[in-house]
Amino acid sequence: MHSLNITVTTKHRQQYLNIAHAIRHAITQGHVAPSENLPSARILAKQLQVNRHTIMAAYQELIAQGWVESKERQGYQVSKNLPVHQVSQTEQTAFKNEIHYQWQIVKDNSTKSQKPASQFLYNFAGGNPDISIFPFNDFRSHMNAALSRPAIKELNYGDNAGFPSFIHETAKYLRRVRSIKDKEIIVVNGTQEALYILSQVLLTKGDKVAVESLGYRPAWQAFESAGAELIGINQTNQGIDVKHLESMLKKHSIKLLYLTPLHQYPTTTTLPVSERINVYRLAQKYNVAIIEDDYDHEFHYDTQPLAPMAATDPSGLIIYLSSFSKLMFPAMRLGIMAVDKSLAPHLINYRTMVNHKANIISQDAVSRWMKEGGFERHLRKATRIYQKRRQCMVNLLTAFQQEGLAINFSVPPGGMALWVDVGKNAEQIALKAKELDIFILAENAFHLMAERNQNRFIRLGFSGQNEENIQQGLLLLKPLLQRG
Ligand SMILES: Cc1ncc(COP(=O)(O)O)c(C=O)c1O
Repeated sequence: MHSLNITVTTKHRQQYLNIAHAIRHAITQGHVAPSENLPSARILAKQLQVNRHTIMAAYQELIAQGWVESKERQGYQVSKNLPVHQVSQTEQTAFKNEIHYQWQIVKDNSTKSQKPASQFLYNFAGGNPDISIFPFNDFRSHMNAALSRPAIKELNYGDNAGFPSFIHETAKYLRRVRSIKDKEIIVVNGTQEALYILSQVLLTKGDKVAVESLGYRPAWQAFESAGAELIGINQTNQGIDVKHLESMLKKHSIKLLYLTPLHQYPTTTTLPVSERINVYRLAQKYNVAIIEDDYDHEFHYDTQPLAPMAATDPSGLIIYLSSFSKLMFPAMRLGIMAVDKSLAPHLINYRTMVNHKANIISQDAVSRWMKEGGFERHLRKATRIYQKRRQCMVNLLTAFQQEGLAINFSVPPGGMALWVDVGKNAEQIALKAKELDIFILAENAFHLMAERNQNRFIRLGFSGQNEENIQQGLLLLKPLLQRG
């Protein structure tokens, strides 16, 4: 240890005792822990402007009391077993009287802590990518390049929309695969940060936000954190119920609509083009902005996915969100929002206040990876693998049906999960599955209004684990589905 912040008093006549007292105080306060090194006599003597022998005498005193040990070649260390019984009377009284500070929490987002999905042997969480197939070696060379040929100018404060070359590559990619154009791209630390920033910039206490009544809770939490009130919109088997949306727009002054039109989260349905046009017209008529969360557009297996609503947005009212969490991994914390030019500066300024910008080294590496073609190579590989996994799950569930199991599902053309009607007791099935080391979520986890829970559906993610695991997990789950 190079230094220890201590305050030496003049309680005793002898200086070494004052120093010993100050070191002991640092130990009892936990500033240095048992077995940790203490500064050498030379360093401490220089720090305190005293003779080295005075420090050595202080350490000898502490060794004699059992607070400090002296080890050959390692110098002085705090004793492994502290002589707590020797704490002075005044210190003991001080410890006893210590009152733990009571925090006044004004925004309580805490939920019951639960074992994370990734710790289950069979993880059927809905949107999990399989991180083990990520080409870390390939990506490392781009990370190395970002560090060995750094964009020095970009590594400082300022330019908070994002790393220009990453914005350029992402804009090119999204224009090509999602027809996103005429929007300004802002790089964020994942969609969740975008949702938070949007909530803070666009919403104030009492504002109303329309959301899919079965939907994505983390988005709802962000809206609520800005004081917004959520209005649940019913769903049909094609996504949001546009008639119900219209009636809610008539009834309430709604400011924002949050939608997952490509693969509705969690039910996986796709909102048809005609309904998208109707939603857009309503948004224009009632002056409502739309957040379109295109969270897993990368994965489609049978046909080209429908272009996002944001691709045709003459009024500039759609905020388009896309994440790198599915194609890469959630801990990458990288995403973008593509917004109208008039909105962009407000979002960038707010983000500057929260967090300046997203990590530039990662953006540099990913843009190099995209430019070189590695990004799309991985996308093709992951799509092939996930398509096979979807088929594996579909085959097994179909076999279960043929054996007489009363389950129902439709096969989504893309995405990472199936929404399976198990008839009854879905919540109970998800709970019991945990005892078998299987993670699944049931319908109840996704309802805005608990009373709407029919307790019939479970969501089965197929992308996050290999086919062997999918098969073993589903075979273990089967008796639970039979009993219901
Ligand atoms: C509906 C939805 N939106 C967005 C995301 C991605 O969030 P982030 O980019 O913050 O990791 C997910 C991931 O599970 C999701 O399910």
